[in-house]
Amino acid sequence: MGTILIAYASDYGSTEKMAKAAAVGVQDVEGMVALVKKAEDVTADDFVNSYGILFGSPVHMGSMDWRVKKLIDTVCSGLWMQNKLNGKVGGIFVSGGGFGGGGGGCEVTMLSMLNNFAELGLLIVPLPKMTADYKYGGLHWGPYGRSADIDMNHGGVSDEVLALTRRHGKHIARAAKAVKGADIFSE
Ligand SMILES: Cc1cc2nc3c(=O)[nH]c(=O)nc-3n(C[C@H](O)[C@H](O)[C@H](O)COP(=O)(O)O)c2cc1C
Repeated sequence: MGTILIAYASDYGSTEKMAKAAAVGVQDVEGMVALVKKAEDVTADDFVNSYGILFGSPVHMGSMDWRVKKLIDTVCSGLWMQNKLNGKVGGIFVSGGGFGGGGGGCEVTMLSMLNNFAELGLLIVPLPKMTADYKYGGLHWGPYGRSADIDMNHGGVSDEVLALTRRHGKHIARAAKAVKGADIFSE
């Protein structure tokens, strides 16, 4: 069995729903299981014992949730010092309210998360445009769940975005199963 760690923060439930959808996608892949945890509960061993890592964050003031960043700056940075995450597979998803048509900072949030992932030596899995339901919340960086309508009434993320996030989880699990934590960066 290979494990994908899904670490997320969520105040109002949208990112949590996406985390659970991604977990179903992971488990669509034979031999792969998902470990779904709130960011503040994740341990160093959870990372070390996983073939792949998915981070989910709400967009907060155009950047990632502080609990996700705290996880990166505390637990992940220690593992970075020891080169323990190199070659694991990584992916991300976010949820935002979406002020205006442009996504209210979701894309810079995603890029800043992927910036951290590159620093950690993760093999980043994007979200290709041919993925079914991409038109409802796909960005090349990963799924984006918009939780408010154009008048900013909160309705939560759509079923289509959850289906898309499930596929993203499946892609990560497939990639992680193929790589199997191999030390691809060693000399
Ligand atoms: C402190 C705070 C800041 C926020 N900033 C943004 C923002 O910059 N852009 C945006 O699109 N949504 C913003 N939102 C809305 C949330 O990203 C959105 O409601 C999201 O779906 C919440 O996810 P959750 O249900 O998992 O908590 C903000 C919400 C909070 C509480």
